[in-house]
Formats: sequence, structure tokens, C-alpha cells
Amino acid sequence: MPALQPIGVFDSGFGGLTVLREIRRLLPHEDLLYVADSAHAPYGDKAMSHSETRSVAITEHLLEQGAKAIVVACNTASGAAAQLLRTRYSVPIVAMEPAVKPAVERTRSGVVAVLATRQTLASQTFSVLLGRLGQGVEILLQPCPGLVEQIEAGDLNGEHTRELLAGYLAPLIARGADTLVLGCTHYPYLTTLIEELAGPGVQVLNSGAAVARQLQRRLSEATLLAPRQAPGRERFWTSGHPAVVRDLMTRLWQAEISLEHLSSGCMLEAS
Ligand code: DGL
Repeated sequence: MPALQPIGVFDSGFGGLTVLREIRRLLPHEDLLYVADSAHAPYGDKAMSHSETRSVAITEHLLEQGAKAIVVACNTASGAAAQLLRTRYSVPIVAMEPAVKPAVERTRSGVVAVLATRQTLASQTFSVLLGRLGQGVEILLQPCPGLVEQIEAGDLNGEHTRELLAGYLAPLIARGADTLVLGCTHYPYLTTLIEELAGPGVQVLNSGAAVARQLQRRLSEATLLAPRQAPGRERFWTSGHPAVVRDLMTRLWQAEISLEHLSSGCMLEAS
């Protein structure tokens, strides 16, 4: 029965776990598959074709595992590949969109800042999103190279992470930004630190919960919600070395996980 099939979720690494957490909260009865493409992270500083190739390879893997829907839990891959995935596959494809719209509605200073990878900020999808928003609010764009690597290394609060973040945030706060959009699914792991460095009166938004709600809507419309009361299970893959990745992934997911290596069929080299 298709409705009992799992939901496939992926990211370049651990960032998508922040989205998986919201999906688990909202949809406790669904089985969830998660791929961390750790061997190919970060996507954000590479060519868009890299994210595209990897997104296709991972989606193929998740569909082979029976996924009834795919969540691209990575803003960078969403900008590079969501349209392509939608034209290629018939299952619902749910993608990330930085929370710029709610930020524009909530700002009081009239200055909003978006923190994301270089690739996300340069994508056509992101330009279209900015173009749809009304005038009157200044939107600052801040690429944050190095942050994904810090999170992949498990450094959520160390000296180098703090220095990097402080350097990115200071000019935004100086220009009056009172609303910060986390346009990369890794960054919610730094929310506490960002709030501390940005100071009082600055709100920090991410779109994980909105994407979980969008997934629920899409599944409901397609009558694909799991019709059962038993708790759903999770299954995890990494393209990195499971022995290296397991500890940090367990720490971030806050539960013991079963972690498998991504099969060689999915290890297509990105162009
Ligand atoms: N979590 C990805 C995103 O949302 C990180 C991108 C990367 O690997 O650079 O953009």
C-alpha cells in the first residue's frame, strides 16, 4: 500500500536533520529515510551541477527504497535541483525555501538579512523568491562560507565557529537588521549562538517547520499519509564512513541510529 511507504529526506550532510526533526514532530507515524551526503559536502561552494548530480543520484536511491515522497532538506540542492526532480519523478517533491516572506512581514526595522550558502544566494529560484516580495524592506544577503564545515565537524560553539559567525553578523546588525533568515538547513544548529551574538531584539527564523507542514499537505492531498497509529521508524545512510559519522549524527539526532553506507550505485561522481 503506497501510503505505508517511507518518506525520503536528504541533505549534503547533517543539516537536513533539523528538517527531519520537524517532520518527525508533525508526522509521528511515518517511516523516514535520511541520506547525509557527507562524502560530497559542502555543496554550497561548488558548482550547481554538483548539487544537481548528487540530488538525482540520492533521489534514485531513495525511490529504490520505496520512498512515496522526497524532501530536499537542503536549500542549496533545492535551488539547484528541485525543478529538475519535479520534471523527472512523479512522487511529491518538497523543497526548502528560505523564510524571507515571514521575515518581511515581521521586521520592525525594515531590514532583513538572509544567511545562506553562496550557491543558494546565486540561484535563479532565490532571485525569483526575492522578486515576488513587495518593496519597502531592505534585504541583505550574507553568504557564510565555512559554517557548514564547522557544523559537519561537530563544532557548534567553539572559538572558530564563534569568530566566523561574529564576522558575518556584525555588519548585518550594524546596518539595522532585526530579522535573520537561516537559509541553510545546517544553521539552525547555531541558533542559540546566533541569538547570543546578534543581541536582544533580533529574531531568527528558519523554514524547517513550514516545510514539514508543506509535506503534510502534499501527502494529505495525494492520500499518502500513513494510515496507522504505530510510531514510525527512521533509517539513515551516509556516503561518508559510517564509523566516522555515527557519533556526531547520534549526538545531533539525540537518539541511537542505525547508519548504513550509501551503496556504490549512488556514488556517481559529480561532474
Ligand atoms: N544544508 C545545506 C543547505 O541548506 C548545506 C549546503 C552545503 O552543503 O553547503 O544549503
